[in-house]
Amino acid sequence: MNAISTDAWTVGRLLTWTTDWLATRGSDSPRLDAEVLLASVRGCQRIEIYTAFETVVDDAQRSRFRELVKRRGDGEPVAYLVGSREFFSLPFRVSPAVLVPRPETEGLVVRVLDICRPLAAARIVDVGTGSGAIAIALAKQLPTAAITATDTSADAIAVARDNATRHGFADRIECLQCDLLDHPQAIGPWDVIVSNPPYVREDEFDSLPRDVRLYEPRAALVAGPTGVEVIQRLVATAAQKLVPGGWLIVEIGPAVFAAAEAIVASHGQFTRGPTLLDMAGLPRIVQAQRT
Ligand SMILES: C[S@@+](CC[C@H](N)C(=O)[O-])C[C@H]1O[C@@H](n2cnc3c(N)ncnc32)[C@H](O)[C@@H]1O
Repeated sequence: MNAISTDAWTVGRLLTWTTDWLATRGSDSPRLDAEVLLASVRGCQRIEIYTAFETVVDDAQRSRFRELVKRRGDGEPVAYLVGSREFFSLPFRVSPAVLVPRPETEGLVVRVLDICRPLAAARIVDVGTGSGAIAIALAKQLPTAAITATDTSADAIAVARDNATRHGFADRIECLQCDLLDHPQAIGPWDVIVSNPPYVREDEFDSLPRDVRLYEPRAALVAGPTGVEVIQRLVATAAQKLVPGGWLIVEIGPAVFAAAEAIVASHGQFTRGPTLLDMAGLPRIVQAQRT
């Protein structure tokens, strides 16, 4: 057996070098980034990387890897570089037209499942669906639910449709391009309206992390001067489209939770449920039940 030169670019050596370099470029998950990018280039699962540390990476793969690592070093999110992201243990295609689904958003899915599991055939709409992650995770867990997904962005709706098809839900999830629920087919009524809407204030945008600010769609993030512009309109719309006793479940950021709670509390047709915290202990989900 030939000994491998210690200078050879093995999987292990590439990972070590890249992890160190990405750390100097400001990545907060340099090892994970390196592993995901190398697995993508090698066309394998990340876990398979661990049994290939001594394998020498060929020139073509190294060249492709170098290009991706450089773009990651400039701040481009890994999910866009590899074209996918896991959410609720399911793979989703993502493009720069959609927000990269976040782990904290999984809390919305958990809460909607709690509400809908006792229902025979829940009717649910996901407003601002982006990649379709929330709608599709719900479809997977609730086989009898009827699910609609809306987004203002035609490109996002195309991504959501593609993901729905890949997961076998093309017929079960109706994807509609519209503002909130302003579409002739979005009649309702719904048992649950779930949304992760834009909730960043315009003046907050410049202080967002570089990876988010430069690469994710601004319209998916920024609501307007106060951050609650979309939530305000969504609450008014939801009052018209929910069944009595139905729920509006909305993701919010810590900066707007008090304003969002106040909007719900001051609306005559809702009872406010407790605001739920995320894993970091931050307010993340505002709940409103239609009276
Ligand atoms: C924060 S992203 C959430 C995407 C996805 N639901 C997720 O959680 O990963 C907000 C999404 O809402 C869409 N959006 C913004 N304003 C909207 C509106 N008025 N009506 C419908 N969708 C809207 C954006 O295009 C974007 O896809």
